[in-house]
Amino acid sequence: MSERQPLFRVEAFSGGYVDGIDIIHDVELDLYRDEILTIIGPNGAGKSTLLKAIVGALPFERGRRSFQGTDVSGWSTPRMIEAGIGYVPQVDNVFTSMSIRENLEMGGYMRQEGLRERIAEVLAMFPDLESRPGERASRLSGGQRQMLAMARALMLDPVMLCLDEPTAALSPAARGELLGRIYGIHMSGVGILMVEQNATEALVWSDRAVVMVDGEKVLEDSGLEMLTSSAVGQAFLGQGEEGEGFALDEGSPP
Ligand SMILES: Nc1ncnc2c1ncn2[C@@H]1O[C@H](COP(=O)(O)OP(=O)(O)OP(=O)(O)O)[C@@H](O)[C@H]1O
Ligand SMILES: [Mg+2]
Repeated sequence: MSERQPLFRVEAFSGGYVDGIDIIHDVELDLYRDEILTIIGPNGAGKSTLLKAIVGALPFERGRRSFQGTDVSGWSTPRMIEAGIGYVPQVDNVFTSMSIRENLEMGGYMRQEGLRERIAEVLAMFPDLESRPGERASRLSGGQRQMLAMARALMLDPVMLCLDEPTAALSPAARGELLGRIYGIHMSGVGILMVEQNATEALVWSDRAVVMVDGEKVLEDSGLEMLTSSAVGQAFLGQGEEGEGFALDEGSPP
């Protein structure tokens, strides 16, 4: 039997923002289409940097990335997005002065056809947005904004979605709802690569997880193993703090 081909593969990735100073060191990562893969790790570990490099928003010094078996190392972000990779950055991920509908139109600007139909399809996944498409994004709650950011990324029918801390600064109830939506998107056939600080909650939904520390991948395991393994539990999840999320997270809401 042939080996299952990953949807996305990162090989020996190293690099950063400044010449000669690597933030990411030799990272290897495979994402399969039938999984949610979550990257956890302390602040400054390089999680966002890795995600940016994966989607081509940051040139990399060394290493290779391939998408569905094709080497895409030199591809720009627009080319990656056009090829089917959605990306929701950690911050500034919606146009706040625009309405929900306008944000979705922006997300679908590369579509040759079916813009109206796709907006309707995407809105149907997010009832909070569907009920008021003319609302300005600045008037949405944090959770609704994150949903709009995801909805925008879905406008081009991606097969892979990269999400950088989708539940940051949300209430526990909003986090649960958002993670449920992400799972729903995944079940519609989209491979999910997400960075999360609320590790305990995110791991419940994750097939696999990777721990990054100081720009290196220090651990990789199934979501379940990661949740129940004592070593990781103690180091990264905050033992005995069920539902409290990531122990090293200083950015959680009060
Ligand atoms: N635009 C930038 N220019 C230079 N250095 C940067 C830039 N963005 C991030 N860094 C540095 O890269 C390192 C990794 O940052 P990164 O944002 O990837 O971490 P992170 O794991 O996503 O952290 P957080 O959990 O706080 O979001 C940090 O030392 C940071 O200071
Ligand atoms: Mg980050």
